[in-house]
Amino acid sequence: MNILILGSGGREHALAWKIKQSPKCGKIFIAPGNGGTLKMGTNLDIDLKNFEKVGEAIEENNIEMLIIGPEDPLVNGIVDHLRANKDFKKLKIIGPKAKGAMLEGSKEYAKEFMKKHGIPTADARTVTKENLEETIKYMERLDPPYVLKADGLAGGKGVIITEELEEARKSLRDLIEDKKFGAASEKVLLEQFLRGIEVSFFVITDGKDYRILPEAKDYKRIGERDTGLNTGGMGAVSPVVFVDRAFKEKVNKQIIKPTVEGLKKDKIDYCGFIFFGLINVGGDPYVIEYNVRMGDPETEVVLPRIKTDLLELLIAAADKNLIDTEIEYERFTASTVMYVSRGYPEFYEKGHEISVGDIRTVLPFHAGTKMVDGKLITNGGRVISLTGLGKNLGEALSKSYAGGKEVNWEGKKFREDIGFDLK
Ligand code: AMP
Ligand code: GLY
Repeated sequence: MNILILGSGGREHALAWKIKQSPKCGKIFIAPGNGGTLKMGTNLDIDLKNFEKVGEAIEENNIEMLIIGPEDPLVNGIVDHLRANKDFKKLKIIGPKAKGAMLEGSKEYAKEFMKKHGIPTADARTVTKENLEETIKYMERLDPPYVLKADGLAGGKGVIITEELEEARKSLRDLIEDKKFGAASEKVLLEQFLRGIEVSFFVITDGKDYRILPEAKDYKRIGERDTGLNTGGMGAVSPVVFVDRAFKEKVNKQIIKPTVEGLKKDKIDYCGFIFFGLINVGGDPYVIEYNVRMGDPETEVVLPRIKTDLLELLIAAADKNLIDTEIEYERFTASTVMYVSRGYPEFYEKGHEISVGDIRTVLPFHAGTKMVDGKLITNGGRVISLTGLGKNLGEALSKSYAGGKEVNWEGKKFREDIGFDLK
């Protein structure tokens, strides 16, 4: 089976790496891909906003399965677009239509969905320009910290958390009056702060049944001990020590099951991944966000821990046959450390040559890399993620860090404390 994976991050490299191990895998294409996905298959230079071009690539390369990595094309309706073409009737697509993708595309919609289906989440009110002044007043009565979230997609930057009332008020005005994130922040959620430790769960679902993938924890802040600006993710680990059988059972019963059943009740036909961003509040899981795709860099630790043939699971999902499948995990621990460009997540340079030494003890997943005239160069903020596998977290991490010494470029940065809170 020929497969096209959309995206260009470590997530897509990891998907290609895992799928390539399946006996059912034919040719792999990645659009646009990066300097690492070249080794997994063929990179196609396509702008993911151009759905027509994606359709042409599917035809030209006899693609039988399309996997959509990032959220933007999903929220913008790529699946609806392709499904409208009857030539693609048999195409297996991993990723929801726009309606399902609203779980990530609108935080207000996701909140209403959770309320309607009894899924635990932080209380929130929607703020628009109509109730802005009233909310600014009302905030006096709330205890800090204040959590503000732009309703729409904001590339991971749309959440503001502050202890200061005046700063929260100013941020709320910036978001709504100054449209800091354009249409994405015309509506803002003012949300109750949840205190606890975060963990992410992932499922693959065919809209009826689901299989739970290994859980993971990512490290979003740029600085050590979770300080500084939010990034796309600076590292991740799986499994997560506090996720025992009892907690997993709660997550399944209180969150995953009602979510998949909620989609069914709301007549949303959903085939793809669901990412549950959770906070463990004193042993009880609450949803802080849904994503309608896998996480990055979580995928780089989740997929190595799946023993089962992932492609078989994806085929079963697309055929609405997940009920006949089982998923088996590896027992080892996986960690990944993201090596980034100096300046990230703000302004950063690109185009530095990367030297790669002996990295046989890690799984390298490229993100912002590009091959130019036989040279590997940096091409993004997050450059490469190195996954280590070990008997325990310490062993896995020591491999991720040892591997990092072998990969160098001008201005390489990374967090030295991935997993610090779990040891
Ligand atoms: P999100 O983009 O929704 O994942 O939010 C970014 C980060 O903000 C999360 O990873 C959490 O660390 C934090 N966060 C979001 N919502 C809340 C909340 N209600 N309470 C506490 N922390 C939150
Ligand atoms: N690592 C967080 C995300 O993929 O959204």
